[in-house]
Amino acid sequence: MSTATSSSPRTPAIGTKLPAVGTTIFTVMSALAAEKNAVNLGQGFPDFNCDPKLLEDVTSAMAAGHNQYPPMPGIPALRQAIAGKIAALYGHSYSAADEITVTAGATQAIITAILAVVRAGDEVIVLEPCYDSYVPNIELAGGSVVRVPLVPGTFRPDFDKIAAALSPRTRAIIVNTPHNPSATVWTAAEMRKLEELLAPTDVFVIADEVYEHMVYDGAQHESVARFPGLAARSFIVSSFGKTYHVTGWKVGFVAAPAPLMAEFRKVHQFNVFTVNTPMQHALAQYMADPAPYLELPAFYQRKRDLFAAGLAEKTRFKLLRSEGSYFQCVDISAVSELSEADFCLWLTREIGVAAIPLSAFYGNGFDQRVVRFCFAKKEETLLAALDRLARL
Ligand SMILES: Cc1ncc(COP(=O)(O)O)c(C=O)c1O
Repeated sequence: MSTATSSSPRTPAIGTKLPAVGTTIFTVMSALAAEKNAVNLGQGFPDFNCDPKLLEDVTSAMAAGHNQYPPMPGIPALRQAIAGKIAALYGHSYSAADEITVTAGATQAIITAILAVVRAGDEVIVLEPCYDSYVPNIELAGGSVVRVPLVPGTFRPDFDKIAAALSPRTRAIIVNTPHNPSATVWTAAEMRKLEELLAPTDVFVIADEVYEHMVYDGAQHESVARFPGLAARSFIVSSFGKTYHVTGWKVGFVAAPAPLMAEFRKVHQFNVFTVNTPMQHALAQYMADPAPYLELPAFYQRKRDLFAAGLAEKTRFKLLRSEGSYFQCVDISAVSELSEADFCLWLTREIGVAAIPLSAFYGNGFDQRVVRFCFAKKEETLLAALDRLARL
């Protein structure tokens, strides 16, 4: 006899592990930009294609049969190319065998590093405003988020505040330079300060360096790899998506000292296990020529300058200095009384240009009348946006 009952199947209440996470402003703005046919300078991705050579390298890799699982940490040729690049640019030797892992973009790299390091009850310092995955990642690992503001207006690190936030429970600090959203770049003096501050501690650094090749005006990227006291405690995270204009490929990497990497790989192998084989072969091939990443600062600086000059000429926005990344922040006080978020909605609907409010990068929605534009766009896209913004 059947034991089935006539009552409907029961879906258990799931609750939530991330009560503060809802639909992000990025999703809202992108949907609104599409609906209103606005020029989308909101979300950070290029609207142009990558080098055709890179596409040919992927096609060749697929045709050559590189279509099955690669080794768990990534194919050796790509890990060697990454180690070679870090040694050449930042003067620190990582072992391709034990200290480099290829990841499914920086996003997976960051959560994997956090899961490897953070235990229940550990504190992790984030410097706000910050990239939106850090806080939920720490919470998923059972850690407590300790928010330290970057100085409003300049977005420089405040080392007194960072020092005050350090406690015996501090397990890690997340540092992002060049910085999203503020477009600031940490100086060597700031990196040395961090190195000194952490020297007596056992605090790990998760160094989000996805914009490492977008630093302007002759300045250089101060990777944690350049500072021995930081390199020894850091997971460096980078993204081929940003460097080679292929954000949709979701391939990145992590570099860390062998004992840290061993723990990272324990999580990685049961998280994604491996990353897209043909892309890895193509990237290894493509990295043989350093020109594409060495030329990136000039490539993006031209876009920054075009966009910034247009904003200065055609609008009353006050421009904040874009030292790196592909973002330009502006102060909207002279243009509007609206909050940052309302201004961005209004700008998309009425002017036809999408931007992102900086308040989206703060846990408490702090509003300092600053919004972020992404200039990783074709010249014609930037000019179309400027034409519209001139109506402000
Ligand atoms: C600061 C920062 N970190 C990480 C990421 C994620 O990079 P990926 O696309 O490689 O996952 C982004 C992407 O916007 C970012 O801006």
